[in-house]
Amino acid sequence: MKPLQVNIWRGAESGAFQTYEVPRQESQTVLDVVTYVQRRLDPSLAYRFACRVGVCGSCAMSVNGVSRWTCRTHVSKVASDDKLEIAPLRNLPVVKDLVTDMAAFFDKWAQARGRFSGSTTRKDEFARVEPESKQRKQVDAAIECIGCGVCYSACEVVTWKPDYLGPAALNRAWTLVNDVRDTANKERLAAVAGDAGCHACHTHMACTERCPKHISPTAGIAGLKRAVLAATLKGEI
Ligand code: SF4
Ligand code: SF4
Ligand code: FES
Repeated sequence: MKPLQVNIWRGAESGAFQTYEVPRQESQTVLDVVTYVQRRLDPSLAYRFACRVGVCGSCAMSVNGVSRWTCRTHVSKVASDDKLEIAPLRNLPVVKDLVTDMAAFFDKWAQARGRFSGSTTRKDEFARVEPESKQRKQVDAAIECIGCGVCYSACEVVTWKPDYLGPAALNRAWTLVNDVRDTANKERLAAVAGDAGCHACHTHMACTERCPKHISPTAGIAGLKRAVLAATLKGEI
């Protein structure tokens, strides 16, 4: 097999792609390629990973222009003409090379009231969620989000409206709106009802197409739109 020609982003917001030659291997992942470059060719390359098995979400990068978990992306599936272009996730500030600053991403979870607000204390019985209830079942997939940022980076609305809360924060809000134990839903629906909230979504579906966990933030955002309308008609928000 011919070696790979790999263009990797070097620098921060300003910088340039640098080309490296990496030998091909069986079952090689894009994360293997980045690791080879950092360990064998240029130890100053900055990138982020932890689990290497699709659990932590920290290895997300843009590969040939598409946001992906690099540890779960085989080179053979994405390399065209033995070439790869690896860049940091879009829509987030670049700290260095392939490392993005996730602060704004998680700040938006807080803005969307993405924190559980319960009413029980540690002295009370466990609050129970009925597994077969409609509310629990409709967030079956959504609660599996691991906050990797792939959907956020794929969303065009975030690109041209940087204050948009984005698919992951809104997906999180949707899971809590459906959590019967939560007590902050009026505040949460008010938080996602603004100009930068669920109504800014243009239903492009890029988030849903790209989510490695097969979550549909688009469906959750549509659910939030309905919940906001219902709360508005009832005069609750
Ligand atoms: S919804 Fe999917 S792509 Fe978005 S942060 Fe969660 S796991 Fe990642
Ligand atoms: S469906 Fe909405 S949140 Fe998802 S990528 Fe499109 S505009 Fe962004
Ligand atoms: S390193 Fe954890 S998901 Fe890729």
